[in-house]
Amino acid sequence: MTDFKMLEDQFGPGCYPMRDVVITRGQGSVVYDENGREYIDCVAGQGVVNVGHCNPYVVQEIKQQAETLITCSGTFYNDTRSLLMEKINEITPPELSNIFLCNSGAEAVEAALKMSRIASGKTDIIAAMRAFHGRTFGALSATFNKKYKKEFEPLVPGFDHVPYNNFEKLAETVTDKTAAVILEMIQGEGGVNVADENYVRQVRQLCNKKNILLIIDEVQTGFCRTGKMFAFEHYGVVPDILCLAKAMAGGLPIGAIVFPEKLKFAQGNHGSTFGGNPISAAAALGAISYMQDTKLAEQAAEKGAYMMQKLQAINSDKIRQVRGKGLLIGIELKEKVQPYILAMMDEGVLTLPSGSTVLRLLPTLVISCEQMDTVVERIEKVLQ
Ligand SMILES: Cc1ncc(COP(=O)(O)O)c(C=O)c1O
Repeated sequence: MTDFKMLEDQFGPGCYPMRDVVITRGQGSVVYDENGREYIDCVAGQGVVNVGHCNPYVVQEIKQQAETLITCSGTFYNDTRSLLMEKINEITPPELSNIFLCNSGAEAVEAALKMSRIASGKTDIIAAMRAFHGRTFGALSATFNKKYKKEFEPLVPGFDHVPYNNFEKLAETVTDKTAAVILEMIQGEGGVNVADENYVRQVRQLCNKKNILLIIDEVQTGFCRTGKMFAFEHYGVVPDILCLAKAMAGGLPIGAIVFPEKLKFAQGNHGSTFGGNPISAAAALGAISYMQDTKLAEQAAEKGAYMMQKLQAINSDKIRQVRGKGLLIGIELKEKVQPYILAMMDEGVLTLPSGSTVLRLLPTLVISCEQMDTVVERIEKVLQ
């Protein structure tokens, strides 16, 4: 049998902390390794397959599109891309009338940052401490953690980081050069920290008053993950620029920003060869239709409440706090989390870290009650 691990170790980029398993197949909420062992997947491609692995809506759209047209650049009109734009428009607030399609979360953030500078004529961006917005130079400049940044300096100038959920500190940092504030509604990579309602409303009001753009990064929280189609809906605010990616195309690479007509780019100011390619666009149409047909956001809210209540009932003195929204859940431990991630894998459940002490659960949103019960049972076991 081919040694897949050896091949990736030999030819891989070195930047991923590899886990000792070769995943070869996925269906719904489970994946299988090369020996046929089943794992309940609470990684979901890093929060990508909200609609479940190999979702039939997505598979059908990909198959049909692959036999029809695989690529079409943004300078030509395209049937599938236009239908996806119409669909995104249907599920986002009416103020956000226009869409730029790209291929990843970092690219969506880059587009939002470039748009903020060009639309406002100002240069500076305020981001939050513990924020994660991606690893390209602009997105990395908005990201907080020094660990990801310090070896790549100098980064893009003009970025400040202020404490999350502290409105006064953010307001003090605003200057007449501030083009935009960028925020996650839940900091997914930075410890599963949930934004306070009051904080988000106050930031929205300040941005209105000072003519600053509010970028909401929903790369991880979007597409039903938190119990609403988008997490900002919990807060009664609307962003000026909405960043999307991950779960949008049911597993295929895609990203987008959604913004009002008045912020539109001028011709030649931005672009992407693969952005809005027909296969990803078709997959996204399938994934979003599935979310709508099965009321996936409501399912995530109900399942999240069920799982949260079960996790909170675990009696372990290793747990400091359980927090999150919908099916984006963090279990903060009083010690380093990595050994528990590996122990969970031995128990047949794939989980993620968030920061160094938080065990993060990002299951597919089609996970069953029985599967959630098993996950909780295994967590309880490894945390004894
Ligand atoms: C909130 C947020 N923004 C941006 C990104 C970057 O996305 P990508 O890895 O697709 O570039 C991530 C990735 O985890 C994220 O969680």
